[in-house]
Amino acid sequence: MGESGSTRAQVWAHARHVAWQMLECPRERGLTRRCIDALLIVLVIGNALAVVFGSDDDIHARYAPVFDWFEWASLAVFSLELGVRIWACVESPDRRGQSAWRQRLEFLTTPLVLIDILALVPALLHHLWGLDLRFVRLLRLLRMLKLARYSPALHALGAAFYAERRSFLGAGLIVAVLILLAASLLHLVEAEANPAGFGTLARSLWWAVVTLTTTGYGDVVPVTPLGRVLGGLCTILGLCLLALPAGIMANGFAEEIKRRDFVVNVKLVGQVPIFRGIDALHLAEIATMLRPRSVAPRALVVRAGDPSDCMYFVLQGELQVMIPAPVLLGPGSFFGEMGLLTKAPRSASVRAMVDSQLLVLDEQDFDRLMRLHPEVLAEIRRVAAERQTSPPPPRPALEARSQ
Ligand code: CMP
Repeated sequence: MGESGSTRAQVWAHARHVAWQMLECPRERGLTRRCIDALLIVLVIGNALAVVFGSDDDIHARYAPVFDWFEWASLAVFSLELGVRIWACVESPDRRGQSAWRQRLEFLTTPLVLIDILALVPALLHHLWGLDLRFVRLLRLLRMLKLARYSPALHALGAAFYAERRSFLGAGLIVAVLILLAASLLHLVEAEANPAGFGTLARSLWWAVVTLTTTGYGDVVPVTPLGRVLGGLCTILGLCLLALPAGIMANGFAEEIKRRDFVVNVKLVGQVPIFRGIDALHLAEIATMLRPRSVAPRALVVRAGDPSDCMYFVLQGELQVMIPAPVLLGPGSFFGEMGLLTKAPRSASVRAMVDSQLLVLDEQDFDRLMRLHPEVLAEIRRVAAERQTSPPPPRPALEARSQ
């Protein structure tokens, strides 16, 4: 009984892991995963088309059964998808170390899951309980946002917006102050001559908002000479001001793309101390074995007890080896070598402390590289042995500095 119970638990755990790989694992690129992604993308686009064509009463009346069938099928697939994502999210290495419920709660508050919920729940309330939500049809269009999951560019845009949030707040404050200032000035100058447009500060505000953010609708215009001069200045100022958020966003977006898509080249590999002294030809070969990986602050890169399938070289940033006396690893150092050398599970967890850039060397390439460059293997062995025996360096000093 006990044995069959534990077998069943193992089967469930395995199924959950497979489900996570098929829906969430960022590294999974297999055929099944690509088919599932393609099915979901087609369904999302189909939903958007259904909303657009379904809004035409004639078309809707003619194909009502098709629309209904498609809506129910979509709801079933999206509900299943969300349910499985929530069930399997505990497999993510990023959320280890907390209770399953806490992990799921945290998962439920991530932007992509909130989009899934928003795209699903109003429709379910409407169809199952007959709640008359007039905007349900419009909310269905939110399902388009599910595509964000499959678009790295949209991710980058969101990340850029978040990274530049302080700049946006600053630019927003400047715009708000200038709008108030322009409205007050025009109210002062124009109130008597043009009471309908500028008689109160609130009316002037309407003029100031449309003049500073566009070139004005022309529904309210200053009529006094001084008012026109000030109005002209505000229009020019508005054009300059609008360039500010656009510039911030463009800069943030470019930074984010650069951070994500760094290309592994000979120069980059040559920066890793352990590869110094290797000639350019061999470095070019090594570059083909390494893959780039950017990690966000607090992301768990290696989890204690996990199978060891690769090792990492730190190019930029700072990571912490989570052992009783934690060790910080900086640019030039490496980790994950112990598991590969001993063919044992990971001896410790390693977490990024700040935005970090790593080079990943998979197990097969590790074996190949070590055969080609025994001197690199000897150095990795030496460091691994030192790590196993010697006490860790004092906390604030980066290991790279001492190496
Ligand atoms: P591995 O066991 O594969 O995964 C965890 C990694 O943490 C390990 O390889 C080492 O690279 C690193 N590590 C473990 N202990 C120490 C230590 N005392 N000092 C520095 N790094 C360590």
